[in-house]
Amino acid sequence: MTTATEAAGLVGADVDRVDGPSKVTGAARYPADFGLENLAYAVLVQSTVAAGRIRRMATAAAETAPGVLTVITHRNAPRLARAPGGLGIGPPPPLQDDRVVHHGQHIAVVVAQTLEQAAAAARLVETDYETAEPLLDLDDPRAERVDNAAGRDVFRGDVAAGLAAAEVIVAATYTTPAQTNNPLGLFATIASWDGDLLTVHDSTQGPAFARSALAVAFGLPESAVRVLAPFVGGAFGAGLRTWPHVVLAALAARMADRPVKLVLSRAQMFTSVGYRPPTVQHLTLGARRTGEVVAIDHQGTEPTALEDDYAESLTRATAVLYDCPNLSGRTRQVRLNVACPTWMRGPGEAPGVFALECALDELACELGTDPVELRLRNYAEVHPQTGRPWSSKALRACYEKGADRFGWARRTPAPRSMRNGRLLVGYGMASAYYGYVQAPCQARASLGRDGLAVVRSAATDIGPGTYTVMTQVAADALGLPLDRVRFELGDSTMPPAPLQGGSGLTAALSSAVHTACRELLRVFVDLAAGSPASPLYGCGVQDVTAADGRISPVHASGAVPGETYADILGRHELAELSADGASARRRDLDAEPGIFAAKFAEVEVDPDLGLVRVRRFVAAVDGGRILNPKTAASQIIGGTAGGIGMALLEQTVSDPRTGRIANATFSDYLVAVNADVPDIDVIFVGEPDPMNPIGVKGIGEVAIVGVAPAIANAVFHATGQRIRSLPITVEQLL
Ligand code: MOS
Repeated sequence: MTTATEAAGLVGADVDRVDGPSKVTGAARYPADFGLENLAYAVLVQSTVAAGRIRRMATAAAETAPGVLTVITHRNAPRLARAPGGLGIGPPPPLQDDRVVHHGQHIAVVVAQTLEQAAAAARLVETDYETAEPLLDLDDPRAERVDNAAGRDVFRGDVAAGLAAAEVIVAATYTTPAQTNNPLGLFATIASWDGDLLTVHDSTQGPAFARSALAVAFGLPESAVRVLAPFVGGAFGAGLRTWPHVVLAALAARMADRPVKLVLSRAQMFTSVGYRPPTVQHLTLGARRTGEVVAIDHQGTEPTALEDDYAESLTRATAVLYDCPNLSGRTRQVRLNVACPTWMRGPGEAPGVFALECALDELACELGTDPVELRLRNYAEVHPQTGRPWSSKALRACYEKGADRFGWARRTPAPRSMRNGRLLVGYGMASAYYGYVQAPCQARASLGRDGLAVVRSAATDIGPGTYTVMTQVAADALGLPLDRVRFELGDSTMPPAPLQGGSGLTAALSSAVHTACRELLRVFVDLAAGSPASPLYGCGVQDVTAADGRISPVHASGAVPGETYADILGRHELAELSADGASARRRDLDAEPGIFAAKFAEVEVDPDLGLVRVRRFVAAVDGGRILNPKTAASQIIGGTAGGIGMALLEQTVSDPRTGRIANATFSDYLVAVNADVPDIDVIFVGEPDPMNPIGVKGIGEVAIVGVAPAIANAVFHATGQRIRSLPITVEQLL
């Protein structure tokens, strides 16, 4: 229970997750948990070559196997349309012809009475290929190169002249491997048809977007498709698109004339729902002896799919982090026979800032300047590309408070100069930026005679705490205790919300929820204002306060307690009242939005074994107004753990001849576990950002950005070895 005084400070409070109990008791239902009557099971068959054509498929054995309902291949699949994605074009629809463009491409789906029957029958499908020599290497001269497809290359000044005039040059090549999103929850889709009405439970980061994609694929009006995702077991970007297996689950349900459940295996998660593309990045910095960076040249190359599009813009942060007059930032995509990459936590910035911030560290060494001091010397007081002011920026405070908390002053500059017994100790740091997106969003708030407010929006909560934070925002706006508010999401029939991605949902949704709830309060007050019997008689919404479930005139003394929402409904014989709210990023401000952070890492390196341990980590984050420090800190901790994995453990390894992923299991693809993750100290700095009425920026991506370079720079400080290729492994250090 929350008292009135607590309710007054609900936004910004360390509220426990409102959905925590349902998660730990198993009551929360994830997409795979819905057991529909008459449910059948689908299992995918995937190509075992990366390029060519299917010459022959023998499906008779599978079709006649016990329990099998249908086997779908390109020979019997209907034509499906390609959907526009929520962000860019959607993936090509599956099973449309005999071509194979990547290893692990879905080439058939087997539907049976039980999962075991479907899995057994899937193994009976025999495929002969007419194989072609796959394009698997970024340097393959046969591969098509895509120049600035997304229009995100950035230039200013004259880089060649800037470099020519520089007194110090640092030039290096950094590489990052493919890394796979690997949420714990296996992606699942349950599809059922009722005539031409399609209902889908799916692991998506945006039910409204999945609905649009499915509607286009099957040629249905959007109103004929409903997508549900009340809980999603993580996604890290993998759920931002409607992937072919989702379409296949719906197709299987239609062709089997039964509800169908399709759950990807862990191995299939590596080829079916995207991954962070590997990158090769050339970075050249030109500087004066005084530390002023005068030119930055950042060129990145990464693969993309042959018949799909994903472009990870590696230089977005490079363009804005420092006040540098001459800059060239370009990312090229090379079309290969690979599964399509996708957004993975901190897309663009996570690998891009690794290269930039390692290069800055190399420059600091070259100049004999402290790494924090070097960054302060190049601080961008205004947006360096547009010259416009920032809507808010507290990166200086991130450096100062982070360095202070970390004890950066104890660092002795020379590599190998700090030890703990026989272990080498290193301190490293990095800046972080993320260019978040705030898309339009809607919410609807209702309040009935039971005094319970229900607020709805078609958003998702893939883990950051959206249920909790939106409950806080709604309770605060309506003056209700937390337990009198229920926030609901994850249903495409609710008011449309943007994808939970790009660090933008909290800003968009909290603004819409706040607006809907304040509008609902106004509706109640307007109704009561007309009744002489009401203590709110003659009041406007500006004349009242709402707290602990009561609306009171502001001029009232304690003796005039106002009345409850239920009192008003009762007097007017109404069951409930509702109101809608919408939000959009402010366009009237002449300012640039941005999220900033400074990351500090301490590592210990065993000089004999090359083993790296992260001992301490401090993340100082300017995320604007923080609605719940507890869930926000959890998000930064999670992102830091992902960054530790990125720095030291994670790499998706493909066979260079066949394109087959060689380590598609959790025993071979290493994610950071508890033993790899030290105590992480999270500090929030900064002020509410004026881009939205709530003042939120968003912290989902900036959580991981800068972690890997802070660790890599600490490894250099510990060992004197500059490792420019992630992950930093024992083999590289020995
Ligand atoms: Mo984030 S990669 O936009 O889910």
